[in-house]
Formats: sequence, C-alpha cells, structure tokens
Amino acid sequence: MEEKISNYISILNGKPADEIIRFFGKEFPGEVAFATSLGAEDQVLFEMISKTDPSVHVFTLDTGRLFPETYDLMDISEKKYGMKIKVMFPDAASIQKMVSEHGINLFFDSIENRKLCCRIRKVEPMLKALKGMKVWITGLRRSQSENRKNTPMVEWDDTYGLIKVNPLFDWSEDQVWEYLRSHKIPYNTLHDKGFRSIGCQPCTRAVLPGEDLRAGRWWWEESGKKECGIHLRKNGLPSQG
Ligand code: ADX
Ligand code: SF4
Repeated sequence: MEEKISNYISILNGKPADEIIRFFGKEFPGEVAFATSLGAEDQVLFEMISKTDPSVHVFTLDTGRLFPETYDLMDISEKKYGMKIKVMFPDAASIQKMVSEHGINLFFDSIENRKLCCRIRKVEPMLKALKGMKVWITGLRRSQSENRKNTPMVEWDDTYGLIKVNPLFDWSEDQVWEYLRSHKIPYNTLHDKGFRSIGCQPCTRAVLPGEDLRAGRWWWEESGKKECGIHLRKNGLPSQG
C-alpha cells in the first residue's frame, strides 16, 4: 500500500485540491467519504465536492455537545449544496454509562475523562461511519498545529484501514478565508466572534489575537498535543507523512 500511496502523491503533486478530490472519486467510485465538522476548511471542501463529485458520502459526527451555530450551518449547507450530510450519533448506552459514572461535564475533571468522552462521542462513531469506505477526505492542514505539521496529502490510515486524503494539507488559514469569501461560502458565525477552530461547545472557546489557532480547543490542557483521537495512528502518534 505504501507504494500505491507514493504513486498517488507523485501523480497529484502540485495539483489543486479539487483535482485531488476528483481523482479519488474516479479511482474509488462510491467508496469515498468526507468527514465534515462544518469548520472553515470543511466548508471549502464541501463546496468543491458538490462541484466535482457529488457521489462522495458526506457525514458529520454529532457529539450531542455541539454549538447551536454548528447545527444551523449543517442545515444551511445541506440546502445550499443539495447534498445530505449524514449525521452520526454516539452509542446511547455508552453515553448513559459514561455520564452515570463520571458526570455530565466529566471532561473538565481529568485528561482520562476527556479522552473517554472524545472516544465515545467521536472516535467510535467515526469507526462506524468509515466502515466499508476505501477513502476518507478530511480538512486537516499542516499549519493548524505542531502536531499536524507533517500532514501529508495522502496517507495510509492504519486506525481505520483506509486511504486518508487531506486536500488542503498545504493551505494557509488566509487561503481558506480567501476561498470562502470569494466563493460566498456559508461559514460558522462563531468565526466572526473570535473562534478559529470549532469543536464541542464546552471544550471550545474564542482565542485572542496572537494566540494559537487551536488555543481555544480543550484550553485547560497543555498546548501542542491536543487531539480528540480521530486523527491519531494506531501507535497514538499523529501522521508523519
Ligand atoms: S479535531 O480532531 O481537533 O476535532 P478538527 O476540528 O481540527 O479536528 O478537524 C479536523 C478534521 O477532522 C475536519 O476537517 C474533519 O475532516 C474531521 N472532523 C473533526 N471533527 C469532526 C466531526 N465532528 N465530524 C466529522 N468530521 C470531523
Ligand atoms: Fe466530549 Fe469535549 Fe471531546 Fe466533545 S470535545 S467529545 S464534549 S471531551
């Protein structure tokens, strides 16, 4: 598989993001999924996918703790692009057990609790959503964090057993905003209130000018290595290209 991945990278090297999407749509018809958190990058990708390959399966993980603004954008985007966003929910019994044992806001009590919550609300539903797919498209970018600085365009994801494609891997945040504005793409209104990276409501806050892009995510934890787990390899490390 590593050879195939290098081959894809050499074919697609220097190609624009929409061509990368089109290429995988043709190679794996009906087997490409797009995971959207409705973040700024994902809105760029949703627009590109609606134009280049509407057969891509679009899904989002509804953790049950999202911002109302995120639900509004889900609705607006489905209508604008005429494509369904499949909403994946966590397993009710697992949530019931977790909350009974650890409380509703368990994530503030310890890193273990925070990781447990992310596992049940995000990682496990992600495993379900990607079952049967050959490729998943994500909005990861290298400049989002130290952890993501080696994000490749295409990689083999051993956690989910499929090809992971990051068409915006080398985009800057400015490029994302330039694209959103010039294409009049709807975005999360929280971005206008100082939010730069948006996840679950209790675990996300706005950031100050000059602060890190992801400083508002799990802001009470040590910076640099903050991940919910959906982008970690089996060895627990981020992608290394
Ligand atoms: S996270 O791991 O810290 O939550 P981040 O918010 O930066 O990730 O998003 C990176 C990419 O992960 C998104 O572009 C998207 O592809 C995927 N992703 C993150 N959260 C979700 C979600 N709730 N549903 C679907 N995909 C998601
Ligand atoms: Fe739970 Fe917070 Fe992780 Fe969301 S980001 S799944 S609320 S710990």
